[in-house]
Amino acid sequence: MIDSTVTIQTAFNPALASPETREEAPDQPIEIHPFDAPLGAEVIGLDLSKPLSQADFARIHRAHLDHHVLVFRDQRITPDEQVAFSKRFGPLQIHVLHQFGLAGHPEVLIVSNIVEHGKPIGLGDAGHFWHSDLSYKERPSLGSLLHAQELPATGGDTLFANQHLAWDTLPAHLRNAVEGRVAEHTYLAKYAELQRRSPWRPNLSAEQVAQVKPVTHPVVRTHPETKRRALFVSEHFTTRVIGLPEDESRALLAELFAHSTRPEFVYRHQWRERDMVFWDNRSVMHLAAGTPDDQRRKLYRTTIEGDAPF
Ligand code: SIN
Repeated sequence: MIDSTVTIQTAFNPALASPETREEAPDQPIEIHPFDAPLGAEVIGLDLSKPLSQADFARIHRAHLDHHVLVFRDQRITPDEQVAFSKRFGPLQIHVLHQFGLAGHPEVLIVSNIVEHGKPIGLGDAGHFWHSDLSYKERPSLGSLLHAQELPATGGDTLFANQHLAWDTLPAHLRNAVEGRVAEHTYLAKYAELQRRSPWRPNLSAEQVAQVKPVTHPVVRTHPETKRRALFVSEHFTTRVIGLPEDESRALLAELFAHSTRPEFVYRHQWRERDMVFWDNRSVMHLAAGTPDDQRRKLYRTTIEGDAPF
């Protein structure tokens, strides 16, 4: 297995600290245990319902940069507490399918296959294709947090693929082909296909379509904090490489999609009750492995706005 959980020295960025810096909060006995996997670590000893000291925030921030996916077990927290923790890292984004926002908490997207009174309570097929959250925006997500509310007895795993490793191991002919290129990302790329699979998916209003105009981003991005390079194209949202004939663009993207999710780059998260998982969308892509139709699954997701990729 390739180990990518190298520590890169970057300065702590005070801009990420809470506006109401909680110097008074006591430190918690945090331990970071890296997984035996190409990414990911478990954070032990942190209760996210308690105020986070500045020192603990800095340790979590550092671990997030080093390991790309952090797992916090058994977090008995409210949506308000999830929002408050998420906001320590930046402003939150509201999903274009605002129909699936949690009542009273528009920043919390309900990810769920549960249908109540004939209506889906959440986005049931979120993550059906590999993607990085909100890559279809000018400023895609820095990171996302998913908090488990209700889990199936079987299935429902989430896979994460390390895009730094994908770039580091990219064959030379593909490196040459993508160097300096930009690609188009659009929310609508798979929308019609997903609607055919999941007829409950709403038609988008004109206002929603206007919120998700296609954007372009570099095919290889530089992480703004660690300066590591990462592949930044996905099966879900990337439609074409700008400046290439359509057939060449399609063939190149197919090779990149296949390479970027090779098993040796992937950590598979098997959810436990009340897990909170916090990943870095600048470093990883993710995929929902799927839940059997007869099983219920519900999670709450927050997404933090990031920088325009460069
Ligand atoms: C997502 O893409 O954010 C949802 C992932 C999941 O449901 O496992």
